[in-house]
Amino acid sequence: MFSEDVGSFFRSPVREIFKKVDLNAIYSFAGGYPSAETFPLEEIRQTMSEVIDKYSGKAFQYGATQGVPDLREAVAERCGVPVERVQITSSSQQGIDVCTRVLVDPGDVILTSSPSYLGALQSFRSYRADIRGVAHNSDVDAFRAEYEKVITEAKAEGKKIKFLYMIPDFQNPSGESLTLQERRMLVSLAQKHDFLIVEDSPYRELRYEGEPIPTMYSLDPDRVIHLGSFSKIFAPGFRLGWAIAHPDILDKIYVCKQSLDLCPPIFDQYVAAEFLKSGRLDANLKKSIELYRSKRDLLLSQLEEHMPEGITWTHPEGGLFLFLTMPEGFDAVRFYDRALDAGVAYVAGEFFHPDGSGKNTMRMNFSFMSPQKIKEGVELLARLLYDEIL
Ligand SMILES: Cc1ncc(COP(=O)(O)O)c(C=O)c1O
Repeated sequence: MFSEDVGSFFRSPVREIFKKVDLNAIYSFAGGYPSAETFPLEEIRQTMSEVIDKYSGKAFQYGATQGVPDLREAVAERCGVPVERVQITSSSQQGIDVCTRVLVDPGDVILTSSPSYLGALQSFRSYRADIRGVAHNSDVDAFRAEYEKVITEAKAEGKKIKFLYMIPDFQNPSGESLTLQERRMLVSLAQKHDFLIVEDSPYRELRYEGEPIPTMYSLDPDRVIHLGSFSKIFAPGFRLGWAIAHPDILDKIYVCKQSLDLCPPIFDQYVAAEFLKSGRLDANLKKSIELYRSKRDLLLSQLEEHMPEGITWTHPEGGLFLFLTMPEGFDAVRFYDRALDAGVAYVAGEFFHPDGSGKNTMRMNFSFMSPQKIKEGVELLARLLYDEIL
């Protein structure tokens, strides 16, 4: 009855967790949820009412597949690109999915980092792509050599490499960013072997320290498709994002989107456009950054204070996550039920590794819980880990 593609679908382990437990009733480091405190409810209410006054019925009508002009223009201005290069998407998850749909045939290779974003892996698998992950190496020559090796192997098997999928800013799950040198190296690799890059950057504007690093798109605007999202800088409930790319690529995405959803949600787009143009989004984002910086600092200090020896973690300069590595032999999937029974949730790192490695790793989110719950949650998790490891 079902298509062959359905056989490649897999359920998100993160979403399975959400089904089983009430996130507010436990200590949840699991989801990638922004803090509800960052949703500016009164201003959203006011903006919605302004949009209805300004556009009346038009705000609820079908609209252009590329997105409403007001929002495309506002995004183009924010990102410093021509408006012809902007497609509004029903959030970046759809951006990932349409890129895969227009570029990949079953068996084609998608290169990515290992670990990588679970939702992207789900989408790639649903199109029966052959995903090849490469672990990060801080020596850029060795890092390049790893990629060259994987590319050579894939080509020797007669495979087509379609694109490299990367989250260069505050990656999900690791929280780490690519340096400028690494971004340049990957772009030059794509030029040499003639494949595209999908740069997924929903966390780019959530920076708590250090200077912004140029996007991969800015290094080769005709080869890189840049995906952005309003989910982490405004509110995920609006389901709005954008794709920036060469007009020939955007044209294919545009036609693909016609059959997907005809157009992104119109009312939401007008609200987001007004929010952006009035400066409310930036004012709110500033407050969110302050809040998340303090939560990140709290989580780092709590880990430092409570975690047993032999556990290490990343120190993200932005985003919503950090990544823990436990001693070899630790199994974060097996440990999970014990942790959940005791009332604390995380996501096992294995799910983010295309080849199922990373068994001794876990992702922790720091945006969702209150400071008090972050403190208590780390103490509880650390106690359980002591029992398990020592
Ligand atoms: C790297 C990455 N890309 C894309 C998404 C999807 O976000 P949205 O569809 O809400 O823009 C997420 C969500 O957590 C993410 O972490």
